[in-house]
Amino acid sequence: MSSQCKFKRYIWELPVRWSHWVNAACIVILAVTGLFIASPASVGRAPSAFSMGWVRFVHFVAAYTFTVSVASRVVWSFLGNKYAAWREFFPLLTAKGREKTLAMLRYYLFMDKEVPETIGHNPLATTAYALLFFLYLLMIVTGFSLYATHAPQGILFTLFGWVQVVFSTQSIRLIHHLSMYAIFGFVVNHIYSAWLMDIKEHGAEVSSMFSGYRFTIHRKDD
Ligand code: HEM
Ligand code: HEM
Repeated sequence: MSSQCKFKRYIWELPVRWSHWVNAACIVILAVTGLFIASPASVGRAPSAFSMGWVRFVHFVAAYTFTVSVASRVVWSFLGNKYAAWREFFPLLTAKGREKTLAMLRYYLFMDKEVPETIGHNPLATTAYALLFFLYLLMIVTGFSLYATHAPQGILFTLFGWVQVVFSTQSIRLIHHLSMYAIFGFVVNHIYSAWLMDIKEHGAEVSSMFSGYRFTIHRKDD
């Protein structure tokens, strides 16, 4: 198959690549600091080292960065090229999308040997990305709601305080904590799939998230 992959195409624009890697880095930082917040341990030599305070500070800096990065990707889904468009994330809404998703599912279930070629996003993957973006939103809403409790007169509490009316503070912590494990589940599967498609399609899948370019058999999208 590799010898036929002759068309080089620019697929992932800079904002898609930047938000992808900024999100990935933030998730690692947020998970490590979040696990510390969940089971605090004083790693400083004296209370004045303020160690847990610094862990929380890093969590909040990464949280703001993550929120801006996610918001910029959402905006780019209306401004960017067709591979970045919001429609890509809902392939099940069209007959062609359902057909492509089914073909990919058949491959993953070992029912077909040949992997269907995808130029932009793999349609099965984008369905998972839509769920992942829902988890991102959940982390942001629950996170800012917890964060806003320190200042009930502030703007953040006006925006996110309602969550504390619907759920108790401890339930919000639990949702925030458990959703992290759901994100971990996605990441394990995602890295496996990116690696698998790189090997099977020979289209430079992994490096495409750095360079923006992929190699395809067909000149046009089918
Ligand atoms: C992928 C993103 C994120 C992950 C994996 C994550 C992870 C965690 C975890 C595991 C905890 C500990 C929960 C517990 O007490 O059991 C936590 C606490 C917290 N997170 Fe996040 N978080 C994320 C995003 C955010 C965002 C966007 C905000 C927004 C400001 C935020 C704000 C907070 C706050 C305020 C706490 C509680 C701090 C405390 O009680 O001292 N998090 N986070
Ligand atoms: C915390 C870790 C990660 C998360 C949460 C994550 C999430 C995502 C998301 C949401 C997309 C869709 C991009 C968009 O349109 O905005 C994506 C695409 C992609 N990611 Fe990741 N990613 C992570 C780590 C990685 C790593 C480590 C690799 C490399 C091995 C990787 C390779 C790719 C590739 C190749 C694509 C494009 C594939 C396609 O959709 O068909 N990702 N990732």
